[in-house]
Amino acid sequence: MPELTGKVALITGASRGIGKATAIALAAAGAHVLIHYGRSASEAEALVAEIRQSGAKADALQADLSAPDGPASLAEQVRAKLTTPLDILVLNAGISKAAKIEDHTIADFDNLFATNVRGPFFVLQQLLPQLTAGSSVIAITSIVAHAIPGNSGQPGAPALPVYASTKGALETLVKHWASILGPSGIRVNSVAPGVIETDMSNFTKTEGGRNLALGMQALKRIGQPSDVADVVTFIASDGARWITGATIPVDGGSKL
Ligand SMILES: NC(=O)c1ccc[n+]([C@@H]2O[C@H](COP(=O)([O-])OP(=O)(O)OC[C@H]3O[C@@H](n4cnc5c(N)ncnc54)[C@H](OP(=O)(O)O)[C@@H]3O)[C@@H](O)[C@H]2O)c1
Repeated sequence: MPELTGKVALITGASRGIGKATAIALAAAGAHVLIHYGRSASEAEALVAEIRQSGAKADALQADLSAPDGPASLAEQVRAKLTTPLDILVLNAGISKAAKIEDHTIADFDNLFATNVRGPFFVLQQLLPQLTAGSSVIAITSIVAHAIPGNSGQPGAPALPVYASTKGALETLVKHWASILGPSGIRVNSVAPGVIETDMSNFTKTEGGRNLALGMQALKRIGQPSDVADVVTFIASDGARWITGATIPVDGGSKL
């Protein structure tokens, strides 16, 4: 297991799903975890209690990252908690919307880009003073930035054109951040999950949805949040010290 004792990690969207599993994995590796949440206050507080019970350090921070002032508010709270640099920043909070092209509204489009692209951009911008040589930034993107889920036009396949383009934009930011921040010793990578069983991917709760996921994967089970969290923990660690600007697929061999 990677060793992260003495490191501090901020995970956005850690109240549920992949972010929660990532907070648990980073804490198990020894990190002090800052658990950001938007609306799920009781889930975040319960996670803080669970992690503290295990002997690790955890704190909860709230900010709506779809709001223009959300990233600055989060960064202010991080600075109030920390006397040391931020070693690990996991840009995980996100939303999705599956809908036909004609059913996407301008409000949907703006909300997807505000939450999935503008939010991470300004969280990183606002936390730049806390990042230092050795810091690792990990953005949770998605297989859909590169591949269409299911078969084109197949009934039941989720249509995710705008969501997918937010993840493509985020991967582009990751490459630029990696290039710009590399000379300062800061690594930036994307982890791109395939289908993972969380509240977001509720189509995995139907037989058709499960079959669609299994049909495009080499490994025949539905991915779990811990499958992603373990890879994030490795990328956060010194074992990944020579990896930057990369996108790491964590998708059970989807769409090979
Ligand atoms: N599940 C999948 O199959 C899958 C596949 C590929 C990529 N991903 C990506 O993985 C990441 C995590 O997804 P998930 O499946 O774990 O989703 P999830 O279970 O729906 O959890 C989403 C998290 O993001 C937070 N969040 C959403 N909007 C926010 C906002 N405006 N301000 C602050 N926090 C906000 C939520 O916080 P609150 O509940 O506290 O508001 C929650 O903690 C996302 O970026 C997603 O796009 C997921």
